[in-house]
This record gives sequence, C-alpha cells and structure tokens, in this order.
Amino acid sequence: MVDHAALRDLALDIARAVGPEIRRRAGRVDVSSTKSTASDLVTEVDRWSEDQIVSRILDARPGDSILGEEGTGVEGTSNIRWVVDPIDGTTDFVYGHPGFSISIGVEVDSQPVVGVVLDPLLEDEFAAAVGHGTTRNGQQVWVSGTTDLTAALVATGFSYDPDRRGRQAEVLVGLLPQIRDIRRMGGAATDLASVSCGRVDAYFEQGLNPWDCAAGTVLVSEAGGRVTDLDGRPSTGEMMVAAPAAIHGPLLDLLQTVGADRV
Ligand code: IPD
Ligand code: CA
Ligand code: CA
Repeated sequence: MVDHAALRDLALDIARAVGPEIRRRAGRVDVSSTKSTASDLVTEVDRWSEDQIVSRILDARPGDSILGEEGTGVEGTSNIRWVVDPIDGTTDFVYGHPGFSISIGVEVDSQPVVGVVLDPLLEDEFAAAVGHGTTRNGQQVWVSGTTDLTAALVATGFSYDPDRRGRQAEVLVGLLPQIRDIRRMGGAATDLASVSCGRVDAYFEQGLNPWDCAAGTVLVSEAGGRVTDLDGRPSTGEMMVAAPAAIHGPLLDLLQTVGADRV
C-alpha cells in the first residue's frame, strides 16, 4: 500500500528546501532564454530548482519516475511518478510579482494522489493527499460556497501562442459581463491553489501542460471542488475548469456559450 500522506510530506519537505533561494532571487534574475515563443521565459533559477527537486526525489525514492518541465524524464521501476514544475509562473518570478510557486504532484498508477504548491513570496504552503483533504499552512481548507455564477470571481490564464491568446481574449469579452470579475495572477498552480481555499471561486485555462496542473488538481478535488475539461470529463490540462460543484456545471455551459470550445 502506498502511503499518500508520506508522499505529500516528502513533496512538502522538498518544496521547502528550494523555496528560500527562489524567494531570494525573485525579481533579481536575468531571463536566460525563451522557449516556445518570445513570452515563454526561462531562467537559470528554473533549471537550478528542477535539479534540486529531482535529486532530492531520487535520493529519497530512487525507483520512482519523474517528469519535469525543464527536461527531466526519469523512467523508474515503481508505479509512482512525480510531476514537477520547478517554478510555475516564471514571468511573475522574473518581475518579483506574486503568483509564482513550486508545484510538485505525485501520481500512483497514473492517478493523481498528491499535490504541493508552495508560494515562496507569500510563504503560503498548500498540500493535499487523496483521502486526507487539502491544507493551507497546516489548516484544512475548502473551495468557496458560491452557488451563483454571476457572483463568481474567476481566475484564468493565457497561452504563450499569440494567435491562441487572441481567441482567449474573445472568450473573455463574452464571459466578463456574466460573472463578478476575472483574475489573471500568472501561475496556473497558484490559481488552482486559490480555488482550493476560496481565494477565487473558479478557474479555467486552455493549453496547460501536465506540470502546470498535476499538483493543483489534487488541491481542488480534495478541497471539495470539481476539475474537468469542457465536456465534464477528467481534464488532461488541454482544457481545465476547476470550481465548486454548485457552479461547475453552469460555468461549463457559459464557457461553451462564449466559444471556449473554439479556442
Ligand atoms: C505558465 C503559468 C501561466 C499559465 C501558462 C503556464 P510557466 O507556466 O502557469 O499562468 O497561463 O499556461 O504555462 O511557463 O510559468 O511555468
Ligand atoms: Ca508552468
Ligand atoms: Ca515553469
């Protein structure tokens, strides 16, 4: 039997080990290069963080697999895979703007079971393990009790692809008059953590990679929320809608109506 709580505690210890250096460098680092497009930034600290996280996972659990955004692809022998975004929200990190985090998810037999999202700037630690709920700085948290989509604060994010960004902006034109407001913090993992504790009511985004949402998905579901694609199926990240159950269905319907399925 895999001990989910022990995996969660290990993920939290590892995130804590890299957090202080990431906080120290925030807003004080050169952009080393760009990746998919000119807006997709990467720094030496992203790579340093991934190296540190991966070596600590391998020290503790040498048989596990690891997928990391900055190139890690370890094929292990166990049924456990770690999915790591060493800095989610690199643009925020480069500017020293809140919203970036360290995101570590763990899957057992391809099922997400653990999520840790650590915000080094605000010193906020979110952690969840299936069957154990979601905590923020050690205190149990829940998604918001909102039942009315028109009163919902909805977070979102944008692709690095300029054409897709244009279509995402068109969706917002339809959405904004029908909800309380929109937030764009700059980190998918932070957005999902925010849903898990009711700091926003809901979140949606298209074009995410596994490392952006592996941890945050567990935070939301263990906090009582729903995370699906636009058709209500388990999300792969390509389309992610995370919300309390009471507004999740209405949000899917509204997103369809305003053309999110064409983004
Ligand atoms: C990005 C952030 C951003 C989201 C993008 C992600 P990165 O991750 O989570 O908020 O809108 O889709 O790619 O590149 O900063 O790790
Ligand atoms: Ca990311
Ligand atoms: Ca990243």
